[in-house]
Amino acid sequence: YEHGLVDGRPRMYTEMLEQPASVERALRGRLDERFATAHLGGLEMDARELRAVRRVKILGCGSAYYVGQMGASLIEELARIPADAEAASEFRYRSPVIEPDTLYVAVSQSGETIDTLLAVEEIRRKGGRVIGLVNVVGSAIARACDGGIYLHAGPEIAVASTKALTTMNACFALLALQLGRVRDLSVADGRRLVAGLQNLPAQIEQVLEGEERIAQAAEALATAESLFFVGRVRGYPVAREGAQKFKEISYRHAEAYQMSELKHGPLALISPEVPTVAIVPDDELTDRNVAALHEIAARGGPLVVVTHPGVDLGELRAERIDVPRNERELDPLLLTVPLQLLAYHAALTLGHDVDKPRNLAKSVTVE
Ligand code: G6P
Repeated sequence: YEHGLVDGRPRMYTEMLEQPASVERALRGRLDERFATAHLGGLEMDARELRAVRRVKILGCGSAYYVGQMGASLIEELARIPADAEAASEFRYRSPVIEPDTLYVAVSQSGETIDTLLAVEEIRRKGGRVIGLVNVVGSAIARACDGGIYLHAGPEIAVASTKALTTMNACFALLALQLGRVRDLSVADGRRLVAGLQNLPAQIEQVLEGEERIAQAAEALATAESLFFVGRVRGYPVAREGAQKFKEISYRHAEAYQMSELKHGPLALISPEVPTVAIVPDDELTDRNVAALHEIAARGGPLVVVTHPGVDLGELRAERIDVPRNERELDPLLLTVPLQLLAYHAALTLGHDVDKPRNLAKSVTVE
């Protein structure tokens, strides 16, 4: 698995295309249709221990941190356990309170990121329980944790992470489902989510099939010096990850913002030179999101809207990218996929080596 082109394509590209298969592997053998739940044997926690969890704290760096935020939403929504994500690189420097009934989750593709590893060691030293969501089997973080969930994404070589992130997301959904089903999540909701998870690989494939249209949108964005990625609640970590990917490989300034906070500052920057990529799923916030898009359009800001079929954008002038609808809790996973293609094609348009972005390493093993 050396760097370099595969059939004339960058690694990042082949890894993006592998996502349906990676997600299928991540789910394989872990879904239980009969009891409408998930089984994650590697957690090494029985139902009584899972029920005793009062809080979940997720720690990761970079993209893993953003997927951790998506994971925290899944756990709060499905299991009704307060959950949040934090940058592992900051955690141990603020003298964190380690609670015995909190479940700590370390999330890392490589399993070697030093900041995440040191956070795990700090928690364990103070008596906390940590599980890992890790791709590389037998890696330092996997060994340092009390138990965990392997992602089964397959080897990921490109610096810009794709298939590891979608499998992280799927594994968080499995964890949330299992935590939910030993608590209050109903059989009906369990079934709904099991079916939703089973639909993901084919739906990722559908998003990938829309590449040409996304590439056109990317070409237009690549000329901008600076752009915003915006979303609300479930859509906000999606925007953060989209901006991260865009800046990593296109070297353009891309800033993620909560759509609700635009009017409290960044609206001052919106102009025909500053495009916005907006995440607008079909959910309880769609109308508010669409209203905010009109505010952007009124100031001449070009728009790319990642949304669901049937969402009415009215007279809005925007490049529209539709992704298939799943269950609302699982939508963020699918919404991230076009943003990978967007960053990828912007970088190609600008002539960058997408597999070796300047100044970045695949895993950061020194503090
Ligand atoms: C580096 C990479 C990022 C990645 C982060 C965490 O900073 O450039 O793309 O998200 O490490 O890596 P991990 O292996 O812990 O998921």
